Amino acid sequence: MKDFLKRLNETNRLKRVSKELSTDLEISSMLFANQDQAYLFEKVKESSLAVAGNLYSTPHTIKIGLGISTSEELAAFTSRSIDSPSPNKGHLSRFDKSSWDYSVDADLEKLPILKHYDREAGHYMTAGIVAAKFPGTDLENLSFHRMLVLSKNKLATRIVPRHLDQIAKDMKGHKVPVSIIIGPPPAVFLSASLQVQYGLSEYKIANKMMNEKLELESSEETDIAVPLDSEIILEGQLDYNELAKEGPFVDLTGTYDDVREQPVITLTRMHYRKDSVYQAVLAGSREHALFMGLPQELKIREALSKSIPKVRGINLTPSSNGYFHCVLSIEKGNDGDGKTAILNCFAASHPLKLVIVVDGDVDPFNLSEVEWALATRFQADRGIVQINGARGSSLDPSSAKSAVTAKLGLDATLPLKGDKAKFERARITVSSTAGAMIGRSSGSS
Ligand SMILES: Cc1cc2nc3c(=O)[nH]c(=O)nc-3n(C[C@H](O)[C@H](O)[C@H](O)COP(=O)(O)O)c2cc1C
Repeated sequence: MKDFLKRLNETNRLKRVSKELSTDLEISSMLFANQDQAYLFEKVKESSLAVAGNLYSTPHTIKIGLGISTSEELAAFTSRSIDSPSPNKGHLSRFDKSSWDYSVDADLEKLPILKHYDREAGHYMTAGIVAAKFPGTDLENLSFHRMLVLSKNKLATRIVPRHLDQIAKDMKGHKVPVSIIIGPPPAVFLSASLQVQYGLSEYKIANKMMNEKLELESSEETDIAVPLDSEIILEGQLDYNELAKEGPFVDLTGTYDDVREQPVITLTRMHYRKDSVYQAVLAGSREHALFMGLPQELKIREALSKSIPKVRGINLTPSSNGYFHCVLSIEKGNDGDGKTAILNCFAASHPLKLVIVVDGDVDPFNLSEVEWALATRFQADRGIVQINGARGSSLDPSSAKSAVTAKLGLDATLPLKGDKAKFERARITVSSTAGAMIGRSSGSS
């Protein structure tokens, strides 16, 4: 992550705060107030380590992190890396104590772990990636999990049933050895947020993104691989037989998630350097929405690529946290394509509650244009798709307990045949004189 921080700093994208701030709501209030701004808090009251936040809060900064061209679409780049991951996960070396200034017994009090929102249960690690490996096999997994600090070496971990849960269940009650990665290279950060097939190592995707330059080392106590260029590594064991209350915690929607009994990780060892930077992700922020939304966008793209002739744009809207509402702009090949697109979106991405489909001449990222299309091209008696009682997201407070939701699709596309002229947005050709006065080139409209 150091290299990424350096690049952000050199391009004036990193705001360095030298005034001393507390981990208790002070740092999070700054991250909340200015969500597009990457921050480095150099002086932290409770710790000798600095805190970084909002690092990847725009697609542009993620691209800087990945070192890819700004014209390349992030989703397309990510899809390519998933479709053809590197055959190996990177260059793996053995644990080398000398690469760390501190290789010590775990003590979370040394780390500047933030309390983010007023009514949260306590200090939460929010950018920790759990690396787990099924002992004696090559099966390894990376996934993000928020972790509530319970004591110097214990964390309550929120685990939605996905791959880490699968590993824990397959181990039939045995403790799961884990390493927690804080501040990895950007490609590992992005790869860990993806939802790929069980068994495909996220390191192979990251290694592909990094042109085979990913450097890994084994953990000190296990053979779990962790990136060499990480800021902090914690080691321990996840125990499904030891549960603790987890929450309240503010999640993606900016509302307090339910309090649940969740498994505990007991930490053993901790590795960091004098200049290590603790990374935080503010839940409910733009950064959080980007990393939660991208995996959904990839699933939607994949489904539409098989069912719709041409998709001009997909906007998982920022106000729905990049997760619940989607606007699609499509070129239809069949009169039913608007509805087909809606059904495919809902089938591909379970959190979606609202899908609006517009024609290719409407910009899905311009929500006032989308509303114009609804006003002029949509009729409720023929354009609505409603599906009741479908799978939703536990993050939605209106369906939290059951995660069952109703879904609404609005098809605002025009029929293929018929008089298109009366639906066209009227244009005014700009003369050179008027163009100079309104800042447009002549001939444009
Ligand atoms: C910042 C961030 C925080 C997340 N927090 C959690 C969490 O607390 N619990 C959880 O189960 N998933 C959480 N997720 C989602 C998963 O980590 C993510 O979907 C991951 O890809 C799942 O990996 P898997 O498909 O290998 O299981 C979070 C994702 C992000 C980006």
